[in-house]
Amino acid sequence: MEEKTTGRTPLIAGNWKMNLQVTQAVDLVEKLVAKDVVGHGVEVLVCPPFTALYAVSRVVNPAGIKLGAQNMHWEEAGAFTGEIAPGMLAEIGCQYVIIGHSERRQYFGETDATVNKKVKAALINRLTPIICVGETLEQREEGLTDRLIRDQVKAALLGLDPEDVLKVVFAYEPIWAIGTGKTAEGCEANRVCRLIRETVGEINAEASSWVRILYGGSVKPTNYADFAAQPDIDGALVGGASLQAEQFAEIVRVAAE
Ligand code: PGA
Repeated sequence: MEEKTTGRTPLIAGNWKMNLQVTQAVDLVEKLVAKDVVGHGVEVLVCPPFTALYAVSRVVNPAGIKLGAQNMHWEEAGAFTGEIAPGMLAEIGCQYVIIGHSERRQYFGETDATVNKKVKAALINRLTPIICVGETLEQREEGLTDRLIRDQVKAALLGLDPEDVLKVVFAYEPIWAIGTGKTAEGCEANRVCRLIRETVGEINAEASSWVRILYGGSVKPTNYADFAAQPDIDGALVGGASLQAEQFAEIVRVAAE
């Protein structure tokens, strides 16, 4: 296997989804801080639900753990009942925002076009978008994976200043691997991540070696080493296992090795 020779800092991101009330959220990050996850060459990020962001920011910001949201609207303000603006996230200490998670695409009408608007709005507000792409099992079985991934990547970056392409993070999350206990094989996940890298490179050649690409889908401490060893995978987007301080900290430890 190729040696990792890039300057890309691994990123381990916890996507808490619609879990944990404020006191539980604060308890989880306090446990994480106590587990000494910061300062081992790995960027550690938690993405709580909106209601817990502010309270969590007060614990994680001084500790050096990064904070992200799971979604946002692309407009700055206005009559969009129930939505959260990018500036609101930046104000309370978010540095990241997950964009286009498959659950949002599947249940909330997120499209490549709205993903693109949100990516641009995130960058204007100095939030790093973590752009999620991935195929369903049906699409994989029909041999559509590569075309779909390329289309999702290109659509997400449509109209971006090539300089801005350097600032995004991608997450490859095969939909059939999310919350199912099934994972892609490390080498197959790496192949798709390389495809994402090459597609990014068509827009900005320099970005292809700089952009960070995470794998997501049933990542656990017991399976992460296989992904961490892959040359084109720079970290993980972790759902279920990010709700347990010990499991999440262990994934960070594997990434640090
Ligand atoms: P999972 O979720 O780790 O529970 O599979 C990953 C994700 O949806 O980001």
